[in-house]
Amino acid sequence: MTNPLEGSEQARLAGAKLYARECASCHGPDGAGLGKAPRLNRHDVYNAPPGTLFWVLRNGSLRRGMPSFAHLPEPQRWQIVTYLRSLRSDDQPAR
Ligand code: HEC
Repeated sequence: MTNPLEGSEQARLAGAKLYARECASCHGPDGAGLGKAPRLNRHDVYNAPPGTLFWVLRNGSLRRGMPSFAHLPEPQRWQIVTYLRSLRSDDQPAR
């Protein structure tokens, strides 16, 4: 599965806005993590296949507190995936 919006700066910016609205309360403003939710600016998230991230947004991890975002239209979920793959902290270089 490939991200139809991969590499689009417009999609990344739209994804950043969606992330701030839908995700930052749990995962932190720039993916640095907050309390119970894991940080997302990790190399294994950065390197995760887009389809895997898309799957997580579709299904969540309900028992562990990650909601499903299946209610968002698919293009918006791909925008979020595009944004996620732009997050990378300096201490976690890409492989
Ligand atoms: C209500 C809090 C909450 C919200 C809102 C939330 N998450 Fe999560 N998320 C979690 C928790 C808790 C986990 C850990 C789940 C687990 O351990 O299986 C998680 C796991 C994840 C993972 C897997 C990380 C890993 O370590 O493999 C990704 C990717 C993710 N979230 C992305 C997002 C995105 C993108 C959004 C917004 C669209 C979002 N989450 C919104 C709580 C949240």
